[in-house]
Amino acid sequence: MNPLFTTFKLKSVEIKNRVVMPPVVSFGWADENGYVDDRHVKHYEERAEGGAGMIIVEATCVKKDGRIVNSQPGIWSDDHIQGLSKITTTCRKHGPLMLLQIHHSGLGTSPAISDKAVGPSADPNNNRTHTLSIEEIHDLRDAFIKAAKRAKQVGFHGVELHGAHGFLLNQFATPIFNKREDEYGGSLKGRLKFASEIIHGIREALGEDFIIGYRLGSNSPTLEDGIEIAQYLGKTGIDLLHASHGGGTGIIPAVPENFAYNGIVYSGTQIKKHVNIPVIVVNEIKSPERASYLIAHQMADFVAIGKDMLTDPQWVKKAMNNEPIDYCIHCLPKCKRYENADLCPVHKG
Ligand SMILES: Cc1cc2nc3c(=O)[nH]c(=O)nc-3n(C[C@H](O)[C@H](O)[C@H](O)COP(=O)(O)O)c2cc1C
Ligand code: SF4
Repeated sequence: MNPLFTTFKLKSVEIKNRVVMPPVVSFGWADENGYVDDRHVKHYEERAEGGAGMIIVEATCVKKDGRIVNSQPGIWSDDHIQGLSKITTTCRKHGPLMLLQIHHSGLGTSPAISDKAVGPSADPNNNRTHTLSIEEIHDLRDAFIKAAKRAKQVGFHGVELHGAHGFLLNQFATPIFNKREDEYGGSLKGRLKFASEIIHGIREALGEDFIIGYRLGSNSPTLEDGIEIAQYLGKTGIDLLHASHGGGTGIIPAVPENFAYNGIVYSGTQIKKHVNIPVIVVNEIKSPERASYLIAHQMADFVAIGKDMLTDPQWVKKAMNNEPIDYCIHCLPKCKRYENADLCPVHKG
């Protein structure tokens, strides 16, 4: 049996295989109020039908004024419940574990969204930025907890907190952005107080069975910091770690000569050695052979296949049947889906 297609019990859910569709925003699709539309439903249904064991629905913002762009989905009000419910109802028929990634851009909030970008500490080189007061931190914490409550109402098995790619939770965790001298800064414990309060609040409100994942900037600022953060969050009560990178907040580590994957996957495999919770690794894994090797050698519990599952929604089924996969062709200068999700030359939708 190929280890990629073995089951994994997470809390009360039996996950049918080790392949994860990671969160990928479908830029251009949600309207300016953050409502998803029928394209989203079809997009996720195709990948659920195609056999993904876990689907993490794209970065969905907990505040209207914290989005990356105005076509990003939102979950800041009860009005978002109906649209998102169509995704869970449709996908759950095919059996994947469904998580919703909840997000706030923080200092990365686009000027098109808000005149002000908030974070743990203002950036002295950017006068749009503003240091969050304690009251504002509490308000944002509560926005994440309310978003998780809505996600449960919508039918998600759990949420993934977006703590990677230099966004708000990543900014709090890293001393590069967090220069605070109060209880939300300083030591590791202080820098993770914001995340810890969100995690405890979600757990208290939604109970033991609700899955709480965290997407980590594993190299923010170094892999050693990523390992420490992962260990701390593991003790805080998260159920799943998704090891990605810290965007501009860190340097990706060099990999040993005989390591056949990139520094982001390497970081995830190192983090896996130091925690007792399941770890998802990601980034340019691409093929079933490369994915399977990571699981077979216990280097990860799950592998996420991003762009290659965008170009081929049947990635898992084809892998099971040894059929050729329609791979991503790596558009230059960058993935065209960052401009608009309809622009992929390999697969529409
Ligand atoms: C168009 C696009 C949108 C993305 N949106 C998100 C997102 O919403 N949240 C997130 O954590 N990562 C996002 N990512 C990163 C992916 O989840 C993934 O980590 C990345 O594509 C690397 O994996 P891959 O090489 O298998 O594609 C996005 C990537 C792309 C190309
Ligand atoms: S083929 Fe191009 S647009 Fe499509 S997923 Fe790959 S990089 Fe993105």
